[in-house]
Amino acid sequence: MMTQLTNWTTELRYQPYQSWSPEYIKNLLSKVQQSDWRLAYHIQPQSGLLNDPNGFSYFNNQWHLFYQAFPYGPVHGIKSWVHMISDDLVHWNYQGIPLLPDSQNDSHGVYSGSALPIDDKLFLMYTGNIRNHEWERKALQLGAWMNQENQVTKIETPLILTDTERYTQNFRDPQLFSYEDSYLAIIGAQDTELQGKIAVFESTNLTDWQWLGNLTYTDLPMGFMVECPNLVFIENQPVLLFCPQGLATSDLSYQNIYPNTYILGSSFTKKTLTIEDATTLRNLDEGFDVYATQAFNAPDGRALCVSWIGLPEIDYPTYEEGWLHCLSLVKELTIKDGELYQYPVQELKKLRTNQRSFSGKLAKNEQELISNTSFTYEAELKLPKNEIGELKLFADSLINQYLRLYFDTVSGKLTVDRSKSGVPFAEEFGVTREIDLPSHTELTLTIFVDHSVCEIFINHGFKVITLRLFPDETQTSLLISGINSGEYRGEIWELNRSLTP
Ligand code: FRU
Repeated sequence: MMTQLTNWTTELRYQPYQSWSPEYIKNLLSKVQQSDWRLAYHIQPQSGLLNDPNGFSYFNNQWHLFYQAFPYGPVHGIKSWVHMISDDLVHWNYQGIPLLPDSQNDSHGVYSGSALPIDDKLFLMYTGNIRNHEWERKALQLGAWMNQENQVTKIETPLILTDTERYTQNFRDPQLFSYEDSYLAIIGAQDTELQGKIAVFESTNLTDWQWLGNLTYTDLPMGFMVECPNLVFIENQPVLLFCPQGLATSDLSYQNIYPNTYILGSSFTKKTLTIEDATTLRNLDEGFDVYATQAFNAPDGRALCVSWIGLPEIDYPTYEEGWLHCLSLVKELTIKDGELYQYPVQELKKLRTNQRSFSGKLAKNEQELISNTSFTYEAELKLPKNEIGELKLFADSLINQYLRLYFDTVSGKLTVDRSKSGVPFAEEFGVTREIDLPSHTELTLTIFVDHSVCEIFINHGFKVITLRLFPDETQTSLLISGINSGEYRGEIWELNRSLTP
Protein backbone atom coordinates (compact mmCIF):
# COMPACT_ATOMS: atom_id res chain seq x y z
CA MET A 1 0.00 0.00 0.00
CA MET A 2 1.25 3.47 -0.86
CA THR A 3 2.19 5.78 2.00
CA GLN A 4 0.27 8.73 0.64
CA LEU A 5 -2.84 8.12 -1.36
CA THR A 6 -3.77 10.62 -3.98
CA ASN A 7 -6.64 8.91 -5.70
CA TRP A 8 -9.33 8.67 -3.05
CA THR A 9 -11.90 6.54 -4.79
CA THR A 10 -15.26 5.95 -3.15
CA GLU A 11 -14.21 2.37 -2.64
CA LEU A 12 -11.17 3.40 -0.62
CA ARG A 13 -13.03 6.00 1.38
CA TYR A 14 -15.68 3.46 2.35
CA GLN A 15 -13.59 0.36 2.91
CA PRO A 16 -13.84 -1.12 6.43
CA TYR A 17 -11.51 0.41 9.01
CA GLN A 18 -9.77 -2.94 9.60
CA SER A 19 -8.65 -3.05 5.94
CA TRP A 20 -6.06 -0.32 6.57
CA SER A 21 -2.73 -2.05 7.20
CA PRO A 22 -0.61 -1.27 10.28
CA GLU A 23 2.17 -0.21 7.92
CA TYR A 24 -0.06 2.30 6.12
CA ILE A 25 -1.23 3.72 9.45
CA LYS A 26 2.33 3.98 10.80
CA ASN A 27 3.46 5.87 7.70
CA LEU A 28 0.48 8.17 7.84
CA LEU A 29 1.05 8.98 11.53
CA SER A 30 4.71 9.73 10.99
CA LYS A 31 3.89 11.98 8.05
CA VAL A 32 1.40 13.93 10.20
CA GLN A 33 3.92 14.31 13.01
CA GLN A 34 6.37 16.03 10.67
CA SER A 35 3.91 18.83 9.97
CA ASP A 36 4.92 22.34 11.12
CA TRP A 37 1.28 23.29 11.32
CA ARG A 38 0.31 20.88 14.12
CA LEU A 39 -1.42 22.51 17.06
CA ALA A 40 -0.44 22.76 20.72
CA TYR A 41 -3.72 23.48 22.48
CA HIS A 42 -6.53 22.88 19.98
CA ILE A 43 -8.05 19.45 19.44
CA GLN A 44 -6.79 18.03 16.15
CA PRO A 45 -6.98 14.58 14.56
CA GLN A 46 -4.05 12.22 15.15
CA SER A 47 -4.28 11.55 11.43
CA GLY A 48 -6.85 11.96 8.70
CA LEU A 49 -9.87 14.21 8.87
CA LEU A 50 -11.78 15.75 11.77
CA ASN A 51 -15.11 17.51 11.34
CA ASP A 52 -18.08 18.28 13.59
CA PRO A 53 -17.87 18.26 17.38
CA ASN A 54 -20.36 15.73 18.75
CA GLY A 55 -21.72 14.68 22.14
CA PHE A 56 -20.28 17.62 24.09
CA SER A 57 -21.36 16.91 27.67
CA TYR A 58 -20.47 16.67 31.35
CA PHE A 59 -20.76 13.17 32.72
CA ASN A 60 -19.23 11.20 35.58
CA ASN A 61 -17.41 14.35 36.82
CA GLN A 62 -15.62 14.91 33.53
CA TRP A 63 -16.08 16.81 30.29
CA HIS A 64 -16.70 14.63 27.27
CA LEU A 65 -16.31 15.68 23.69
CA PHE A 66 -16.49 13.52 20.60
CA TYR A 67 -15.80 14.47 17.03
CA GLN A 68 -16.51 13.25 13.53
CA ALA A 69 -13.46 11.50 12.15
CA PHE A 70 -12.04 9.65 9.22
CA PRO A 71 -8.65 8.57 10.60
CA TYR A 72 -7.14 7.05 7.45
CA GLY A 73 -6.69 10.07 5.23
CA PRO A 74 -7.47 13.77 4.77
CA VAL A 75 -10.82 13.18 3.07
CA HIS A 76 -14.47 12.74 4.01
CA GLY A 77 -14.29 8.96 4.21
CA ILE A 78 -16.52 6.77 6.29
CA LYS A 79 -17.12 8.56 9.58
CA SER A 80 -16.81 7.52 13.22
CA TRP A 81 -16.83 9.28 16.60
CA VAL A 82 -13.50 9.86 18.35
CA HIS A 83 -13.82 10.41 22.10
CA MET A 84 -11.88 13.00 24.16
CA ILE A 85 -12.11 13.55 27.93
CA SER A 86 -11.06 16.53 30.01
CA ASP A 87 -11.07 17.57 33.66
CA ASP A 88 -10.80 21.26 32.87
CA LEU A 89 -11.97 21.97 29.29
CA VAL A 90 -8.33 22.73 28.41
CA HIS A 91 -6.34 19.50 28.61
CA TRP A 92 -7.98 16.76 26.55
CA ASN A 93 -7.12 13.08 26.48
CA TYR A 94 -7.71 10.87 23.49
CA GLN A 95 -9.89 7.86 24.34
CA GLY A 96 -10.10 6.04 21.02
CA ILE A 97 -13.04 5.50 18.68
CA PRO A 98 -16.06 4.22 20.62
CA LEU A 99 -18.54 4.57 17.76
CA LEU A 100 -17.36 2.78 14.64
CA PRO A 101 -19.32 2.43 11.39
CA ASP A 102 -19.62 -1.29 12.02
CA SER A 103 -23.31 -2.12 12.27
CA GLN A 104 -25.97 -2.48 9.64
CA ASN A 105 -27.60 0.75 10.84
CA ASP A 106 -24.49 2.90 10.39
CA SER A 107 -22.42 0.94 7.88
CA HIS A 108 -21.67 4.05 5.77
CA GLY A 109 -20.96 6.50 8.54
CA VAL A 110 -21.61 7.28 12.16
CA TYR A 111 -22.77 10.84 11.61
CA SER A 112 -23.18 13.75 13.99
CA GLY A 113 -25.20 13.82 17.18
CA SER A 114 -25.27 14.74 20.83
CA ALA A 115 -25.10 13.30 24.34
CA LEU A 116 -27.16 13.59 27.50
CA PRO A 117 -26.36 12.13 30.94
CA ILE A 118 -29.24 9.98 32.14
CA ASP A 119 -28.96 8.35 35.58
CA ASP A 120 -25.50 6.79 35.70
CA LYS A 121 -24.98 6.58 31.94
CA LEU A 122 -24.44 8.89 29.00
CA PHE A 123 -26.98 8.53 26.20
CA LEU A 124 -25.56 9.18 22.74
CA MET A 125 -27.96 10.04 19.94
CA TYR A 126 -26.56 10.12 16.42
CA THR A 127 -27.33 9.55 12.77
CA GLY A 128 -26.52 6.26 11.09
CA ASN A 129 -25.81 6.75 7.41
CA ILE A 130 -26.32 3.74 5.16
CA ARG A 131 -26.15 3.28 1.41
CA ASN A 132 -27.52 0.54 -0.84
CA HIS A 133 -26.02 -0.92 -4.02
CA GLU A 134 -27.31 2.03 -6.05
CA TRP A 135 -25.55 4.26 -3.53
CA GLU A 136 -28.86 5.69 -2.34
CA ARG A 137 -28.69 7.12 1.14
CA LYS A 138 -30.77 6.23 4.16
CA ALA A 139 -30.56 8.12 7.42
CA LEU A 140 -31.45 6.49 10.74
CA GLN A 141 -31.49 8.22 14.11
CA LEU A 142 -29.76 5.88 16.51
CA GLY A 143 -28.92 5.56 20.20
CA ALA A 144 -26.09 4.18 22.30
CA TRP A 145 -25.27 4.07 26.01
CA MET A 146 -21.89 4.90 27.46
CA ASN A 147 -21.23 3.57 30.98
CA GLN A 148 -18.95 4.96 33.68
CA GLU A 149 -16.02 2.97 32.28
CA ASN A 150 -16.58 4.80 28.99
CA GLN A 151 -17.68 1.66 27.19
CA VAL A 152 -20.26 2.31 24.52
CA THR A 153 -23.04 -0.12 23.59
CA LYS A 154 -25.17 0.63 20.57
CA ILE A 155 -28.94 0.16 20.71
CA GLU A 156 -29.92 -2.10 17.83
CA THR A 157 -33.36 -0.72 17.08
CA PRO A 158 -33.32 2.69 15.40
CA LEU A 159 -34.97 5.43 17.44
CA ILE A 160 -36.38 7.38 14.51
CA LEU A 161 -36.81 6.39 10.86
CA THR A 162 -37.09 9.07 8.22
CA ASP A 163 -40.70 9.73 7.32
CA THR A 164 -40.37 10.01 3.55
CA GLU A 165 -43.79 11.67 3.25
CA ARG A 166 -42.24 14.68 4.96
CA TYR A 167 -38.48 14.57 4.53
CA THR A 168 -35.79 13.33 2.16
CA GLN A 169 -32.93 11.19 3.48
CA ASN A 170 -31.03 14.39 4.23
CA PHE A 171 -32.16 14.04 7.80
CA ARG A 172 -29.46 14.07 10.47
CA ASP A 173 -27.57 15.52 13.46
CA PRO A 174 -30.04 15.01 16.33
CA GLN A 175 -29.61 17.25 19.35
CA LEU A 176 -31.13 15.64 22.41
CA PHE A 177 -32.06 17.63 25.49
CA SER A 178 -34.42 17.49 28.45
CA TYR A 179 -37.27 19.93 28.29
CA GLU A 180 -39.86 20.18 31.04
CA ASP A 181 -40.86 16.56 31.70
CA SER A 182 -39.77 14.89 28.47
CA TYR A 183 -36.91 14.61 26.03
CA LEU A 184 -36.80 16.61 22.84
CA ALA A 185 -34.64 15.97 19.80
CA ILE A 186 -34.19 18.52 17.05
CA ILE A 187 -32.95 17.18 13.73
CA GLY A 188 -31.50 18.88 10.65
CA ALA A 189 -33.67 18.14 7.65
CA GLN A 190 -34.61 18.70 4.06
CA ASP A 191 -38.34 18.46 3.41
CA THR A 192 -39.86 16.86 0.31
CA GLU A 193 -39.97 20.30 -1.29
CA LEU A 194 -36.20 20.39 -0.84
CA GLN A 195 -36.28 23.14 1.76
CA GLY A 196 -34.08 23.18 4.84
CA LYS A 197 -36.01 22.56 8.07
CA ILE A 198 -35.47 21.66 11.71
CA ALA A 199 -37.67 18.72 12.75
CA VAL A 200 -38.72 18.31 16.39
CA PHE A 201 -39.40 14.97 18.10
CA GLU A 202 -40.45 14.10 21.64
CA SER A 203 -40.05 11.05 23.84
CA THR A 204 -40.57 10.16 27.47
CA ASN A 205 -38.54 6.94 27.44
CA LEU A 206 -35.90 7.56 24.71
CA THR A 207 -37.28 4.57 22.77
CA ASP A 208 -40.59 5.79 21.36
CA TRP A 209 -40.35 9.06 19.54
CA GLN A 210 -43.19 11.19 18.30
CA TRP A 211 -42.89 13.80 15.55
CA LEU A 212 -44.13 17.16 16.80
CA GLY A 213 -43.51 19.25 13.68
CA ASN A 214 -40.95 21.70 12.35
CA LEU A 215 -39.42 24.41 14.47
CA THR A 216 -40.65 27.94 13.71
CA TYR A 217 -37.84 30.47 14.00
CA THR A 218 -37.80 32.52 10.80
CA ASP A 219 -39.99 33.46 7.83
CA LEU A 220 -37.08 33.19 5.42
CA PRO A 221 -36.36 30.07 3.37
CA MET A 222 -33.39 28.28 4.92
CA GLY A 223 -31.81 26.97 1.71
CA PHE A 224 -31.92 23.30 0.71
CA MET A 225 -30.76 21.78 4.00
CA VAL A 226 -30.17 22.71 7.62
CA GLU A 227 -27.28 20.88 9.30
CA CYS A 228 -26.36 20.63 12.98
CA PRO A 229 -29.26 22.46 14.66
CA ASN A 230 -28.55 23.22 18.29
CA LEU A 231 -30.78 24.84 20.89
CA VAL A 232 -29.49 26.10 24.22
CA PHE A 233 -30.97 28.37 26.84
CA ILE A 234 -29.25 31.32 28.45
CA GLU A 235 -31.35 32.39 31.42
CA ASN A 236 -34.41 30.97 29.66
CA GLN A 237 -33.66 32.81 26.45
CA PRO A 238 -33.38 30.36 23.55
CA VAL A 239 -30.29 30.53 21.35
CA LEU A 240 -30.57 28.47 18.18
CA LEU A 241 -27.35 27.65 16.33
CA PHE A 242 -27.54 25.96 12.93
CA CYS A 243 -25.93 25.66 9.50
CA PRO A 244 -28.24 26.43 6.58
CA GLN A 245 -26.92 25.25 3.22
CA GLY A 246 -27.83 27.18 0.11
CA LEU A 247 -29.12 30.21 2.00
CA ALA A 248 -29.66 33.29 -0.21
CA THR A 249 -26.98 35.92 0.44
CA SER A 250 -29.74 38.50 0.13
CA ASP A 251 -31.20 37.04 3.33
CA LEU A 252 -27.88 37.00 5.15
CA SER A 253 -24.60 38.34 3.90
CA TYR A 254 -21.91 35.66 4.14
CA GLN A 255 -18.86 34.61 2.16
CA ASN A 256 -18.07 31.11 3.43
CA ILE A 257 -19.36 28.21 1.36
CA TYR A 258 -22.00 27.63 4.07
CA PRO A 259 -22.53 29.86 7.09
CA ASN A 260 -22.86 28.86 10.73
CA THR A 261 -25.73 31.05 11.86
CA TYR A 262 -27.82 31.77 14.95
CA ILE A 263 -30.90 33.53 16.15
CA LEU A 264 -31.90 34.61 19.65
CA GLY A 265 -35.44 34.48 20.97
CA SER A 266 -37.24 35.69 24.07
CA SER A 267 -38.74 32.28 24.91
CA PHE A 268 -39.58 28.91 23.42
CA THR A 269 -43.19 27.75 23.17
CA LYS A 270 -43.25 23.99 22.96
CA LYS A 271 -46.93 23.80 22.05
CA THR A 272 -46.37 25.67 18.80
CA LEU A 273 -42.65 24.80 18.46
CA THR A 274 -41.89 28.48 18.17
CA ILE A 275 -38.90 30.55 19.12
CA GLU A 276 -40.69 33.72 20.14
CA ASP A 277 -39.51 37.19 19.09
CA ALA A 278 -36.70 35.67 17.06
CA THR A 279 -34.01 38.08 15.95
CA THR A 280 -32.96 38.15 12.34
CA LEU A 281 -30.47 35.57 11.24
CA ARG A 282 -26.84 36.35 12.16
CA ASN A 283 -23.43 34.90 11.48
CA LEU A 284 -22.02 33.16 14.53
CA ASP A 285 -18.46 33.81 13.42
CA GLU A 286 -17.15 36.57 11.17
CA GLY A 287 -14.10 34.63 10.02
CA PHE A 288 -13.40 32.12 7.30
CA ASP A 289 -13.60 28.67 8.82
CA VAL A 290 -16.26 28.02 11.48
CA TYR A 291 -18.98 25.42 11.00
CA ALA A 292 -21.13 22.92 12.91
CA THR A 293 -20.80 24.62 16.31
CA GLN A 294 -22.24 22.49 19.08
CA ALA A 295 -23.43 23.95 22.37
CA PHE A 296 -24.95 22.54 25.54
CA ASN A 297 -26.15 23.76 28.90
CA ALA A 298 -23.55 22.52 31.36
CA PRO A 299 -24.58 21.60 34.90
CA ASP A 300 -22.49 24.48 36.29
CA GLY A 301 -24.91 26.89 34.61
CA ARG A 302 -22.76 27.87 31.65
CA ALA A 303 -23.76 27.49 28.01
CA LEU A 304 -20.61 26.08 26.41
CA CYS A 305 -19.84 25.58 22.78
CA VAL A 306 -17.14 24.32 20.48
CA SER A 307 -16.88 24.72 16.72
CA TRP A 308 -15.41 22.77 13.89
CA ILE A 309 -12.67 24.98 12.38
CA GLY A 310 -13.00 23.79 8.82
CA LEU A 311 -15.67 23.80 6.17
CA PRO A 312 -17.22 21.18 3.93
CA GLU A 313 -15.98 21.00 0.35
CA ILE A 314 -12.87 23.22 0.85
CA ASP A 315 -9.24 22.18 0.35
CA TYR A 316 -6.68 23.06 3.01
CA PRO A 317 -2.87 22.81 2.68
CA THR A 318 -2.48 20.12 5.38
CA TYR A 319 -4.09 17.72 2.92
CA GLU A 320 -0.55 17.02 1.69
CA GLU A 321 0.47 16.08 5.22
CA GLY A 322 -2.29 13.57 5.82
CA TRP A 323 -4.46 15.51 8.24
CA LEU A 324 -7.22 18.12 8.11
CA HIS A 325 -8.98 20.50 10.48
CA CYS A 326 -9.32 21.04 14.21
CA LEU A 327 -11.81 22.14 16.85
CA SER A 328 -12.06 25.62 18.34
CA LEU A 329 -11.34 26.49 21.94
CA VAL A 330 -14.27 25.86 24.24
CA LYS A 331 -16.24 29.10 24.31
CA GLU A 332 -18.85 30.28 26.78
CA LEU A 333 -22.00 31.82 25.34
CA THR A 334 -23.59 34.71 27.21
CA ILE A 335 -26.12 37.40 26.39
CA LYS A 336 -25.33 41.03 27.23
CA ASP A 337 -27.65 43.89 26.29
CA GLY A 338 -29.52 41.58 23.97
CA GLU A 339 -26.37 40.50 22.09
CA LEU A 340 -24.79 37.06 21.98
CA TYR A 341 -21.20 36.97 23.21
CA GLN A 342 -18.74 34.11 22.78
CA TYR A 343 -15.53 33.98 24.77
CA PRO A 344 -13.03 31.24 25.61
CA VAL A 345 -13.72 29.66 29.00
CA GLN A 346 -11.74 31.20 31.85
CA GLU A 347 -10.02 27.84 32.49
CA LEU A 348 -7.82 28.63 29.46
CA LYS A 349 -5.89 31.14 31.59
CA LYS A 350 -4.15 28.06 33.00
CA LEU A 351 -2.10 27.88 29.84
CA ARG A 352 -0.66 31.37 30.29
CA THR A 353 3.00 31.79 31.03
CA ASN A 354 5.72 34.40 30.45
CA GLN A 355 3.62 37.58 30.40
CA ARG A 356 4.89 40.69 28.63
CA SER A 357 3.18 44.10 28.53
CA PHE A 358 3.52 46.84 25.98
CA SER A 359 2.12 50.30 25.34
CA GLY A 360 2.90 53.28 23.15
CA LYS A 361 1.70 55.80 20.65
CA LEU A 362 0.66 54.72 17.22
CA ALA A 363 2.68 56.13 14.32
CA LYS A 364 2.51 55.86 10.57
CA ASN A 365 5.72 53.87 10.57
CA GLU A 366 5.19 50.35 11.71
CA GLN A 367 6.42 49.55 15.20
CA GLU A 368 7.40 46.06 16.12
CA LEU A 369 5.50 45.06 19.24
CA ILE A 370 7.28 41.73 19.43
CA SER A 371 9.92 40.46 17.03
CA ASN A 372 9.97 36.85 18.04
CA THR A 373 6.54 35.63 18.93
CA SER A 374 6.23 31.92 19.29
CA PHE A 375 3.41 30.23 17.44
CA THR A 376 1.42 29.71 20.63
CA TYR A 377 0.33 32.87 22.36
CA GLU A 378 -2.56 34.94 23.59
CA ALA A 379 -2.43 38.68 23.01
CA GLU A 380 -4.84 41.26 24.35
CA LEU A 381 -4.68 44.65 22.72
CA LYS A 382 -6.53 47.84 23.49
CA LEU A 383 -6.71 50.14 20.50
CA PRO A 384 -7.80 53.75 20.91
CA LYS A 385 -11.03 55.23 19.68
CA ASN A 386 -10.93 57.53 16.63
CA GLU A 387 -7.88 55.82 15.18
CA ILE A 388 -7.17 54.18 11.86
CA GLY A 389 -4.37 51.68 11.68
CA GLU A 390 -3.23 48.16 11.15
CA LEU A 391 -1.97 45.25 13.06
CA LYS A 392 0.15 42.67 11.32
CA LEU A 393 0.42 39.26 12.90
CA PHE A 394 2.60 36.48 11.59
CA ALA A 395 4.83 38.97 9.73
CA ASP A 396 8.14 37.83 8.27
CA SER A 397 11.27 40.01 8.46
CA LEU A 398 10.72 41.59 5.05
CA ILE A 399 7.02 42.13 5.79
CA ASN A 400 6.03 40.28 2.67
CA GLN A 401 3.86 37.81 4.49
CA TYR A 402 1.46 38.59 7.36
CA LEU A 403 -2.09 38.39 8.58
CA ARG A 404 -3.43 41.92 8.34
CA LEU A 405 -6.03 43.44 10.65
CA TYR A 406 -7.07 46.86 9.46
CA PHE A 407 -8.97 48.80 12.13
CA ASP A 408 -10.97 51.96 11.91
CA THR A 409 -12.38 53.06 15.26
CA VAL A 410 -13.63 56.32 13.76
CA SER A 411 -16.43 54.83 11.68
CA GLY A 412 -16.24 51.38 13.31
CA LYS A 413 -14.76 48.74 11.05
CA LEU A 414 -12.32 45.87 11.20
CA THR A 415 -11.03 44.09 8.11
CA VAL A 416 -9.11 40.84 8.26
CA ASP A 417 -7.01 40.02 5.24
CA ARG A 418 -5.34 36.62 5.02
CA SER A 419 -4.28 36.94 1.37
CA LYS A 420 -0.56 37.02 2.25
CA SER A 421 -0.62 35.08 5.48
CA GLY A 422 1.21 32.01 4.16
CA VAL A 423 0.23 29.23 1.78
CA PRO A 424 -2.87 30.47 -0.06
CA PHE A 425 -6.06 28.41 0.02
CA ALA A 426 -9.85 28.76 -0.36
CA GLU A 427 -9.29 32.05 -2.19
CA GLU A 428 -12.42 31.53 -4.27
CA PHE A 429 -14.41 32.41 -1.13
CA GLY A 430 -12.61 35.71 -0.65
CA VAL A 431 -9.44 36.58 1.22
CA THR A 432 -10.88 39.31 3.44
CA ARG A 433 -13.71 39.60 5.94
CA GLU A 434 -15.11 42.93 7.08
CA ILE A 435 -16.78 43.44 10.44
CA ASP A 436 -18.87 46.37 11.63
CA LEU A 437 -18.06 47.74 15.07
CA PRO A 438 -19.40 50.55 17.21
CA SER A 439 -18.00 53.87 15.95
CA HIS A 440 -15.82 56.24 18.04
CA THR A 441 -15.17 53.50 20.56
CA GLU A 442 -12.04 51.83 21.94
CA LEU A 443 -11.46 48.38 20.49
CA THR A 444 -10.25 45.37 22.44
CA LEU A 445 -8.84 42.44 20.54
CA THR A 446 -8.06 39.16 22.27
CA ILE A 447 -6.14 36.92 19.93
CA PHE A 448 -5.33 33.25 20.40
CA VAL A 449 -2.64 31.96 18.08
CA ASP A 450 -1.83 28.27 17.76
CA HIS A 451 0.53 27.57 14.82
CA SER A 452 -2.05 27.46 12.02
CA VAL A 453 -5.17 28.69 13.84
CA CYS A 454 -6.10 32.16 14.93
CA GLU A 455 -9.18 32.95 17.02
CA ILE A 456 -9.82 36.67 17.43
CA PHE A 457 -12.37 37.92 19.97
CA ILE A 458 -13.58 41.48 19.53
CA ASN A 459 -14.62 43.49 22.59
CA HIS A 460 -14.63 40.45 24.88
CA GLY A 461 -16.65 38.26 22.56
CA PHE A 462 -19.10 40.64 20.92
CA LYS A 463 -17.86 39.27 17.59
CA VAL A 464 -15.47 36.46 16.76
CA ILE A 465 -13.19 35.94 13.80
CA THR A 466 -11.83 32.43 13.44
CA LEU A 467 -9.43 31.43 10.73
CA ARG A 468 -6.81 28.96 9.63
CA LEU A 469 -3.60 30.17 8.05
CA PHE A 470 -0.48 28.33 7.01
CA PRO A 471 2.60 30.47 7.74
CA ASP A 472 6.24 29.41 7.57
CA GLU A 473 8.56 29.41 10.57
CA THR A 474 9.96 32.89 9.82
CA GLN A 475 6.61 34.65 10.33
CA THR A 476 7.14 35.65 13.97
CA SER A 477 6.78 39.39 14.10
CA LEU A 478 3.88 41.44 15.46
CA LEU A 479 3.62 44.97 14.06
CA ILE A 480 1.34 47.92 14.64
CA SER A 481 0.77 51.31 13.01
CA GLY A 482 -1.82 54.09 13.02
CA ILE A 483 -2.34 57.57 11.66
CA ASN A 484 -3.79 59.55 14.56
CA SER A 485 -1.09 59.10 17.23
CA GLY A 486 -3.53 57.33 19.54
CA GLU A 487 -2.29 55.31 22.50
CA TYR A 488 -2.40 51.56 22.54
CA ARG A 489 -1.56 49.04 25.24
CA GLY A 490 -1.60 45.33 25.58
CA GLU A 491 -0.30 42.13 27.01
CA ILE A 492 0.95 38.93 25.55
CA TRP A 493 1.31 35.52 27.15
CA GLU A 494 3.04 32.45 25.86
CA LEU A 495 0.64 29.55 26.08
CA ASN A 496 1.71 26.12 27.24
CA ARG A 497 0.97 23.02 25.25
CA SER A 498 -2.13 21.21 26.48
CA LEU A 499 -2.07 18.23 24.14
CA THR A 500 0.29 15.32 23.92
CA PRO A 501 2.07 15.71 20.58
C1 FRU B 1 -21.77 18.69 8.92
C2 FRU B 1 -22.09 17.25 8.50
C3 FRU B 1 -23.29 16.74 9.26
C4 FRU B 1 -23.07 15.26 9.20
C5 FRU B 1 -21.57 15.15 9.34
C6 FRU B 1 -20.97 14.00 8.59
O1 FRU B 1 -20.46 19.02 8.70
O2 FRU B 1 -22.30 17.19 7.11
O3 FRU B 1 -24.52 17.15 8.73
O4 FRU B 1 -23.73 14.56 10.22
O5 FRU B 1 -21.05 16.36 8.85
O6 FRU B 1 -19.61 13.89 8.89
